Amino acid sequence: MASHAEVAAPDAEVVSPAEVAAPDAEVVAVSRDEVAAVQPRLADHVRRTPVLELAAADLGLAGRQLAPVVAKLDLLQPTGSFKVRGATALLTDPATSDRVRACGVIAASGGNFGLAIAWAADRLGLPATVVVPATSPEAKLAPIRALGAELLVVEGVYADAFAVAERLRDERGAVLAHAYDQRQVVAGQGTAAAELLAQVPDLDTVLVAVGGGGLLAGTLAAVGGDGVVAAGGGGDGGVVATAGGDGGVRVVAVETEGTATLHAALGAGRPVDVDVSGPAASALGARRIGAHAWAARGQLERSLLVSDAEVVDAQRRLWGTARLVAEPGGATALAALTAGRYRPAPGERVGVIVCGANTDPASVTRPPGRS
Ligand SMILES: Cc1ncc(COP(=O)(O)O)c(C=O)c1O
Repeated sequence: MASHAEVAAPDAEVVSPAEVAAPDAEVVAVSRDEVAAVQPRLADHVRRTPVLELAAADLGLAGRQLAPVVAKLDLLQPTGSFKVRGATALLTDPATSDRVRACGVIAASGGNFGLAIAWAADRLGLPATVVVPATSPEAKLAPIRALGAELLVVEGVYADAFAVAERLRDERGAVLAHAYDQRQVVAGQGTAAAELLAQVPDLDTVLVAVGGGGLLAGTLAAVGGDGVVAAGGGGDGGVVATAGGDGGVRVVAVETEGTATLHAALGAGRPVDVDVSGPAASALGARRIGAHAWAARGQLERSLLVSDAEVVDAQRRLWGTARLVAEPGGATALAALTAGRYRPAPGERVGVIVCGANTDPASVTRPPGRS
């Protein structure tokens, strides 16, 4: 693997609890075939979400001869995020489904993944337990409970909830679901990009938001390619990795400045813990990039950061032009375009995965400045 361009790690204080069980473990990147293999299992459960062409002018990008931007509307999934893809892929995996049926599935997440596991388990008639830290807002927990999952609220922070989930896995013989660093989950998340490529075969570039990197790793797998890394300078300040070398679809990773796990890892040359903050942190707030995303980084075109204000602007543009409510993490990839952090070439066909809707709609629809 060739080296990546230098980038300054964010000023985040380094903290210890790693969400990835074995961060330095040797992990082989998920393949395009693995994504293709889970697609039929998802077909009866997860939506084939539509794509929407947005004129560049409608995104505030007038006068630059840009092709329409293709938004992959995965915020229209049941539960309001792409996470149902990975959850369903895991729970329908023939290798583990007997164990899930007998002993249940356990997830540590009060966010979109916990909800997605509860939803998929309910749909498939399987027992599920979701462990959340006491800091999780009740608004996020009620829908998990309503889906019939056992909900355990533990004192402390996310790492404490994860430790309880691990203990319960051992005690019950259950299957532990990881929000972003588990093969089946990554392959499931990759089906969003696989669909997008089928829907828009002439796509040049896909922009994708990164938390722990499950969606990114799945997207890189779906896009495939031979992963030749060619480090170079990103004129817009991004970290440049690849270009895959096969003329295939380029993947650009986007994080907020307050949730920069991938950016920090590329800067340090290895996954490192970062402090996370800001409105996108409830979705993108993993503290360390997952091993699967890290293993696939050779396929990555570029890693970019956007500010919280740029995310809010992207949310408002999406509402303004298409009446879509995206949560901050769901609009982060789009923000790279609308803020000019990613500048497509004239005619370049750019796709953006709009991946989550779970926010108070008023935070997006009310005029700026009014609370
Ligand atoms: C809406 C939304 N977007 C993006 C992400 C990031 O996904 P990943 O952790 O797979 O990078 C999440 C994760 O919870 C999410 O809920």
